[in-house]
Amino acid sequence: MENFLELLNTAFIAEYEDVFLYLRESSIFKKKIAGGEKLAEIFEDFSVMELKHADLLAMKLIKLGGRPTWQFRQIDDSASLKDTLQRHVISESRLYKIYTDLIDACADRNFKIVLKGIRDNEKEHLEKVTYLLKKIKF
Ligand SMILES: [Fe+2]
Ligand SMILES: [Fe+2]
Repeated sequence: MENFLELLNTAFIAEYEDVFLYLRESSIFKKKIAGGEKLAEIFEDFSVMELKHADLLAMKLIKLGGRPTWQFRQIDDSASLKDTLQRHVISESRLYKIYTDLIDACADRNFKIVLKGIRDNEKEHLEKVTYLLKKIKF
């Protein structure tokens, strides 16, 4: 149980980081690159999804007697789009792995379904950022 709570909190911190990163980057690249509106829209969508994930995790954490930890990381405004996408490939893969561990460790059948749904979203994010990284000519 302790391990499960810790894992939930790790996922929560990572989700919240992405909520802010995607949102900030969306406004940066909207202005910074040609045709940035489309990318901004994708990042905004992802930010909202991560927020929903963070919310689901926080509710579960509190229900189990845990305490969601909130950590804020400063974003590097000068990071290139390529670096940004590469970083998201890493963080989305990491989250995918964390959710796989959470699903394995989860005893609650209903919450397992929730976690699987979230993991599917992370897979989608991972595929999209990987695709953009390949497709965009930097
Ligand atoms: Fe997420
Ligand atoms: Fe994600």
